[in-house]
Amino acid sequence: MTSEFEPLEQLIRESMKGVYTETTIDHVVNPRNVGNMQDADGFGEVTGPCGDTMEIWLKVKRGIITNATFLTDGCGATIATGSTVTEIARGKSIPEAMKINKQHVLNALGSLPEESIHCALLAVNTLKQAIKDYLDLKKEPWKRAYRKY
Ligand code: FES
Repeated sequence: MTSEFEPLEQLIRESMKGVYTETTIDHVVNPRNVGNMQDADGFGEVTGPCGDTMEIWLKVKRGIITNATFLTDGCGATIATGSTVTEIARGKSIPEAMKINKQHVLNALGSLPEESIHCALLAVNTLKQAIKDYLDLKKEPWKRAYRKY
């Protein structure tokens, strides 16, 4: 069955061909792990130098990231990097997730144009912020009561 959005999706795919890899285009058109999370164990929000903001929520069980979601008001590359970094983080232990860097995201996407590489950094910095929040809350669980998410 074809959806009413298929022609639009096709148009978006065509406009990105030659600029982004097929993998990146797929993450832009079908982003994974989009949305906020009720009762998250960690939350990060970072605004990059370009003015775009990303938010990441984490669910952690026994030291393993069991769920990671994101939202962003950024461009296609930002959507693709948020989608990818949350995919990479899922199933990782906290020490493993802390080692995720910009290059891991770029490798998973098969590269990004030079002018979009900072989008991968924004995604990684937001993940690190969410991990830091998780670790801070572990030390001071009472702070949960003052969180807005
Ligand atoms: Fe701002 Fe991508 S253009 S993060």
